[in-house]
Amino acid sequence: MKLAFIGGGVMGEAMMRGILAKGLAMPQDIIVSDVDQERLSALSQCYGIRTSANSRQGVEGSEVIVIAVKPQNLAELMPELEGRFAPGQLLLSIIAGAAIDTIAKGLGHDSVVRAMPNTPAQIGEGITVWTASSEVSQSQKEMARSILGALGREIYVPDEKYLDMATAVSGSGPAYIFLVMEALIDAAERIGLPREMAEELVLGTVLGAARLAQETGRHPMELREMVTSPGGTTAEGIFKLEEGGLRALLAGAVIAAYEKAKEVGGK
Ligand SMILES: NC(=O)c1ccc[n+]([C@@H]2O[C@H](COP(=O)([O-])OP(=O)(O)OC[C@H]3O[C@@H](n4cnc5c(N)ncnc54)[C@H](OP(=O)(O)O)[C@@H]3O)[C@@H](O)[C@H]2O)c1
Repeated sequence: MKLAFIGGGVMGEAMMRGILAKGLAMPQDIIVSDVDQERLSALSQCYGIRTSANSRQGVEGSEVIVIAVKPQNLAELMPELEGRFAPGQLLLSIIAGAAIDTIAKGLGHDSVVRAMPNTPAQIGEGITVWTASSEVSQSQKEMARSILGALGREIYVPDEKYLDMATAVSGSGPAYIFLVMEALIDAAERIGLPREMAEELVLGTVLGAARLAQETGRHPMELREMVTSPGGTTAEGIFKLEEGGLRALLAGAVIAAYEKAKEVGGK
């Protein structure tokens, strides 16, 4: 498969790494363009892929064009690339908030897949929600599925409305969990645990809890109740979290991120 990447940042690189690791493309089949020349040199050195400072160069001859620039750079990119796409080419956008319609109109091409990956994609442990315009063919959908599958799990949704919702939950979600981990490490140090041990305990706890939920298939509430005996230490901690409004706070965070995703996309 021949691919062009417009934007070789964190997510672009994660996708290239996954694609190469799965053997979906050879390094010479991937061309990346970015405004940052140093970034291009680093990517070329690390992965042996082709690079170009000109985003138009990669488009010609590529089956899939991955758009991986920040939402604020999309407006400048559109006039640069508008009308440069041939029938049969697939645009795969991972830009948060950018609607299929905006991409299709702005770039003058109707075959668009819109995806929302997340940063664990860097280690093949991401979760991606994606959808496709009606012009995307079955074989292009399969191509998109294999690319996104190289990042971890992928979930196809027939309705684009779920993309902004996923942005607020799984797209931004790793940062929420990192913040929780950071706060737990600080708290552990505050009661006297050495820093290294605090970090190890928190990481092990988050990993173990997530895997337990995954492997048992049980609802987190059930798992929480199993370890919360009345009057015990966990009950004491949980009471403080509830008293401090953890649920309302998380709901507020997700709603705010969702509103922002819609705002970025002009909805
Ligand atoms: N990070 C996440 O967790 C995450 C999750 C899901 C989706 N996304 C989406 O993925 C996209 C990329 O995110 P990222 O974290 O990889 O961002 P990033 O690290 O900033 O990468 C974007 C790259 O594109 C370059 N660029 C800017 N304008 C360009 C242009 N006109 N042509 C070519 N390259 C250009 C940027 O260069 P400069 O830095 O010099 O501007 C930067 O190297 C965003 O739209 C974001 O919404 C991110």
